[in-house]
Amino acid sequence: MKVLIATEKPFAKIAVDGIKKEIESAGYELELLEKYTSKSQLLDAVKNVNAIIIRSDIIDAEVLDAAKDLKIIVRAGAGFDNVDLAAATSHGVCVMNTPGQNSNAVAELVFGMMVYAVRNFFNGTSGTELKGKKLGIHAYGNVGRNVARIAKGFEMDIYAYDAFCPKEVMENDGIKVVESAEELYKSCNVVSLHIPATAETKNSINYALLNEMPKGGILINTARKEVINEDELIKLMSERTDFKYVTDIMPAANAKFVELFEGRYFSTPKKMGAQTAEANINAGIAAASQIVSFFKDGCEKFRVNK
Ligand code: 3PG
Repeated sequence: MKVLIATEKPFAKIAVDGIKKEIESAGYELELLEKYTSKSQLLDAVKNVNAIIIRSDIIDAEVLDAAKDLKIIVRAGAGFDNVDLAAATSHGVCVMNTPGQNSNAVAELVFGMMVYAVRNFFNGTSGTELKGKKLGIHAYGNVGRNVARIAKGFEMDIYAYDAFCPKEVMENDGIKVVESAEELYKSCNVVSLHIPATAETKNSINYALLNEMPKGGILINTARKEVINEDELIKLMSERTDFKYVTDIMPAANAKFVELFEGRYFSTPKKMGAQTAEANINAGIAAASQIVSFFKDGCEKFRVNK
């Protein structure tokens, strides 16, 4: 059995070593394709493998066509919008994710970004504190929960909106539950996005919603760039000079944001929410052990395609 790690953005070495140990102790072989720069390298690497571990790497029908022996893809992470699930199903390939494994790393970055924003991008001027401020968590999944846990340490006033999470789950965590996204944005000084990129959520963070935020509003995005309506965010930030946007996913219009919104816009150069040794180890080893259980026991826990 051949397992390929295909990561344009590599895991920490310690995680690769852990994955290798897991795969080899099951009697399988590990191949590694890191930092590839063209799709042809990926198409070549997938040719003879039975399983692939990926991160945000794009797996489309062309990759699946090239991977004749492929049985399973595990996305070492949460979001699987980078995989064509329908194509995987029609190729008879199981797709899984590793939910929760990198969520603490992402949640910690949210607070790094929040402090950076309220302290005026560390420019030496007087800012504000997070204590007592209203934090809106937009979607209460694994990352949202970790954000809430850390926000309690900052003594923030925590609100959440999630169309799918039962109200009691949030209430049991001591979170104020609101009934709509509009109410969340209206109520909060800072909103942290944790929605996945789906057909329903794409472009959903728009002018009307963001304009609900009170003066000095801050939007933190460690989710996906596709959920933001970039043109409308630019319009809003042009009109509202009080508004700040900090993101871990560089917008398509990054150059425009940099040019127009100096001192109230920041993007990481490459998504780094899950770029910690711990998150790489957790997600990478979970992916490897899910592959082993899939082949040895037929276990399909965490399968995300039908
Ligand atoms: C995820 O969906 O798990 C995060 O966005 C992390 O993605 P990455 O593995 O590409 O850093």
